[in-house]
Amino acid sequence: MCAHKPEIVVAGGGIAGAAIALFLSRLNANVIVLEGRPGRPTFAEGGILMLAPNGMHVLGGLGLARTLLQRDSGVQVPWITINDSAGGHIGKVPQGSEERYGFASTMVMRSDLHDVLLDEVERKRLDVKWNAQVQSIEESDDGVLVRWIQDGLPHEKKADLLIGADGTWSTVRPSMYDCLGLSVPTPEYSGLVGLGALTNIDSVPGLSDLLTPDRPCVMIHGRQGFVGMAIFDRERKKVGWWTTHEAPNRTREEWKIPKKEALVKMRERYSDWAFPVPQLIAAAEASDDQLFVWPVFQVRKLERWHSRRTVLIGDAAHAMPPHSGQGASQALEDAGYLAYLLRAQIESAVSGTKELDWTPLLAQFQMDRQPRVNEIVDEANRRGSMKKDQSVLGYMMKKWIMWIMFMFMRESWGDGWFGYKVPGIDEW
Ligand SMILES: Cc1cc2nc3c(=O)[nH]c(=O)nc-3n(C[C@H](O)[C@H](O)[C@H](O)COP(=O)(O)OP(=O)(O)OC[C@H]3O[C@@H](n4cnc5c(N)ncnc54)[C@H](O)[C@@H]3O)c2cc1C
Ligand SMILES: *[C@@H]1O[C@H](CO)[C@@H](O)[C@H](O)[C@H]1NC(C)=O
Ligand SMILES: *[C@@H]1O[C@H](CO)[C@@H](O)[C@H](O)[C@H]1NC(C)=O
Repeated sequence: MCAHKPEIVVAGGGIAGAAIALFLSRLNANVIVLEGRPGRPTFAEGGILMLAPNGMHVLGGLGLARTLLQRDSGVQVPWITINDSAGGHIGKVPQGSEERYGFASTMVMRSDLHDVLLDEVERKRLDVKWNAQVQSIEESDDGVLVRWIQDGLPHEKKADLLIGADGTWSTVRPSMYDCLGLSVPTPEYSGLVGLGALTNIDSVPGLSDLLTPDRPCVMIHGRQGFVGMAIFDRERKKVGWWTTHEAPNRTREEWKIPKKEALVKMRERYSDWAFPVPQLIAAAEASDDQLFVWPVFQVRKLERWHSRRTVLIGDAAHAMPPHSGQGASQALEDAGYLAYLLRAQIESAVSGTKELDWTPLLAQFQMDRQPRVNEIVDEANRRGSMKKDQSVLGYMMKKWIMWIMFMFMRESWGDGWFGYKVPGIDEW
């Protein structure tokens, strides 16, 4: 029996949503993307993120890895230099190299990565509805009904499959749990906030001697905070930097704080750190550079990533703490792997050999992806706890442990995370 062309709705046009839409556009399926935002987010809304070699491979599968690497901003980071807040050296952590994995880790602005995906979505004329906020879903034997508000008006569509790629603050997640009759974990503030900016290197005299092509990224651990920085463009005019530290809990709304307020607190906290941390903060205060604020919200591990005809991918399934350096890469892996499973299923349905059966495929997706993702979340949480405020003794211990750890760290340390390739990714 020959099935009809499957109707697939993707909720969320972020990193995972745009990527899965691009993969699915190569299959015999009708795909629409519903994105709540009116348009693309700006740098200040997105900040900086790390794209690991494993994530780069997925972009490669979409033919977009080179496009990303050719943009003006972004930097290859084969090693991260780790220092302490007094300016002393602690160690070096390998981040993967082209020779070893085909790609090094790359630090990019989220907006650049998103643009590369969305440019391709536009080029392929995929159906993206902007300003379309998914409200709720309802599942039945023959489909999933998706309801959304677009430009103030209610819409609905019955689909064969709904992919919830709507991030940490997913609405598909609670609605799907409702269908399953299970209670759902909600995002909780982790106690840590990230803040950052892009600053002119010249506004901090001497900085260009610290960050060089062989030492493009330095991360500094202190007793009360963490600062990372990297040269950020081909012409070496900008430094991208960010802090992560404890801050009292607030709701998501309460985190929309003005730049001035955020910087005053940051200045106090980092006042006794070695060059160039206080200087960078002062430069940001003196300039009209935008500051991005990223409170880290977590969601407890989910029991179910799917129901009958709905599946969660990316941060909707596993809000990935930024300390992993894997948030975007895991979202891309999810997209690549779900597409891989769907490809086999849709192709055999089209050739008339099989009726489409979504639920076992979705169960397999969760079963195969969850162990890897959980391991990365656990490690990220360990790293996050190292960024919390510490006692004098605790800080000494932390430095000592890191020093020993990094001394024995070989490049092969990253093989499990960085060397992973989604099955079939080179065959799209
Ligand atoms: C604006 C923004 C800034 C970010 N900044 C950082 C950062 O500084 N550091 C960091 O490590 N990570 C950051 N992240 C998270 C990082 O992008 C993700 O960890 C990673 O890319 C996983 O991607 P995702 O596609 O699963 O989720 P996201 O990238 O969060 O994408 C989810 C998308 O779904 C949309 N959406 C949400 N709800 C609905 C709804 N009800 N209906 C329709 N669409 C909806 C959102 O607008 C968004 O475009 C940011 C995410 C966003 C959206
Ligand atoms: C990091 O440590 C190295 C080695 O001690 C030092 O040369 C460099 O200036 C430090 N960088 C920063 C940003 O503290
Ligand atoms: C802040 O933390 C307290 C205690 O852990 C908790 O009861 C409260 O709900 C939290 N508030 C927010 C806004 O998360």
